[in-house]
Amino acid sequence: MEQQGEQTKPKKILCIGLVCLDIISVVDAFPEEDSDSRCVSQRWQRGGNASNSCTVLSLLGSPCAFMGSLCAGPVASFILEDFARFQVHVCSPRERAVCVTPTSLVISNAATGSRTILHMNSNIPDVTFEDFNALDLSAFKWIHWEGRNADEQLKMMAAVTRHNAALPRQRRIATSVEIEKPREKLYQLFPHADVVFVSKDVSRQLGFDTPQSALRGLRGRLRAGAVLICAWAEKGADALDADGTPLHSDAFPPQQLLDTLGAGDTFNGAVIHKLANGCRLQDALTFGCKVAGAKCGFHGYDAIADKLTQM
Ligand code: FRU
Repeated sequence: MEQQGEQTKPKKILCIGLVCLDIISVVDAFPEEDSDSRCVSQRWQRGGNASNSCTVLSLLGSPCAFMGSLCAGPVASFILEDFARFQVHVCSPRERAVCVTPTSLVISNAATGSRTILHMNSNIPDVTFEDFNALDLSAFKWIHWEGRNADEQLKMMAAVTRHNAALPRQRRIATSVEIEKPREKLYQLFPHADVVFVSKDVSRQLGFDTPQSALRGLRGRLRAGAVLICAWAEKGADALDADGTPLHSDAFPPQQLLDTLGAGDTFNGAVIHKLANGCRLQDALTFGCKVAGAKCGFHGYDAIADKLTQM
């Protein structure tokens, strides 16, 4: 009986990576250095790429879970309450020794939509393979990694490959990875996921000036049959399908750019939501651009749910 119950539970999308506190000051003009000015508003928001993508997945209706490190204290309580508010299940890694929850000070310029981030991550250890190994993988249909501690993440990816090897195709876990930061170590992750999100920053650092040239130049790093996706802000997003077919979606900017914080994480969440529900890559790409574009027209993420009927 219990086994039957387990099987009927909808499988979740798991995102592994950073959660942090974003302390956001909204301004209507970027401050001068060494000046003393008032901002329009200030708020605390749960942040971190994987954590933000979970928020979006949940708002779009995908049951999801987050795994990332947290340090006990009032900030962690705020973060956990917010995960609960968005119905994101949290898979906690083992207790961390004394540490400080990472925090970003964000200046969000409502006049341009720009977000200037000052991030502090002092001593929090990332999720390890040992943490990951304690999970029951049968609860998940998709696992997404925000590229961070690549050596440990490679071991997690290998564990999913082993798990999948014993299963029929339709019960296998799909995987994706985001390679966002231009750090050499992260580039070893390219050949280990079904879907790879590569950023404009990484593409540029590797010598590519357009999303199309990045896709062509980086495809050889992927495993056969994998999908490569590259979002490029106002130019929209491009992708290479499993058979190498190039795809494109224009951007869908809002009437007024208000808040671009987490736009990339929103794109990733929206694309994964569609792909995990069996949609074609072109539809997922266009949907990702629409949701990310809409998100730039309001503060935070909550209003994504209201905009869905227009997408
Ligand atoms: C947005 C974000 C913020 C966080 C920062 C960390 O993509 O995840 O929420 O402060 O990036 O780099």
